[in-house]
Amino acid sequence: MDFYEAISRRSSVRDFTDEAVPREVIERIIGAAYKAPTNDHFRDWHFIVVTDKAIMREVLEGVPKALTVQDVDRMTFISDPVQKRAYQYAVPKQYSMLMDAAAVIIPLMKKKVDVLHPADLSHLNCFASVWCSIENLWLAATAEGYGCNLRIPCGDEEAKARAATGFPEEYMIPCFIGIGRPAEGAVRTKQLVPDIEKQLHWQKF
Ligand SMILES: Cc1cc2nc3c(=O)[nH]c(=O)nc-3n(C[C@H](O)[C@H](O)[C@H](O)COP(=O)(O)O)c2cc1C
Repeated sequence: MDFYEAISRRSSVRDFTDEAVPREVIERIIGAAYKAPTNDHFRDWHFIVVTDKAIMREVLEGVPKALTVQDVDRMTFISDPVQKRAYQYAVPKQYSMLMDAAAVIIPLMKKKVDVLHPADLSHLNCFASVWCSIENLWLAATAEGYGCNLRIPCGDEEAKARAATGFPEEYMIPCFIGIGRPAEGAVRTKQLVPDIEKQLHWQKF
């Protein structure tokens, strides 16, 4: 698939078929993740790939299972109807979009600094770098014909996933990634379209 086509086709997929993702595909897309730019040259990220449903259930134990559109109505930061419709679709699927995926991929970044209390922006470099790897992975999965979604762990979600998979304390989960073959008719939520002409500036703002 052409590079720009993969970029255009990438979107969050939250409904999957039962099809497994072959091991070599997972290995290729994780290989793509390791081609991402990195702040300190180490690329010392790890990726845990969970396909076993019993382990997946344990990993996702902390993820809310019964969120509804009424919960979205209570989210005061939503300011736009298109944005609201996207949340109304996505929020109730936070558990099923991962649990029904062929695999949950857990990227891990090393906590080299206190990223939750950064002294300045450079303290977030390791966080920014792992996100570059996540985007590479997502685009590679799209180019392979698969779909992904992601969820940021909140509250005790990371601790539950740590207990289920045994990764060391020095690592942190930036997000959970669900991957699989998109179901027929899988919804791609409508997006706000930025006005690039207004947002692209040449020479001066
Ligand atoms: C930093 C970040 C955090 C996100 N967190 C979540 C999340 O917790 N749950 C979810 O369903 N989607 C999450 N998303 C996916 C966005 O909802 C999605 O990318 C956005 O609506 C645009 O839709 P698209 O991916 O289909 O283009 C996140 C995306 C990013 C980049």
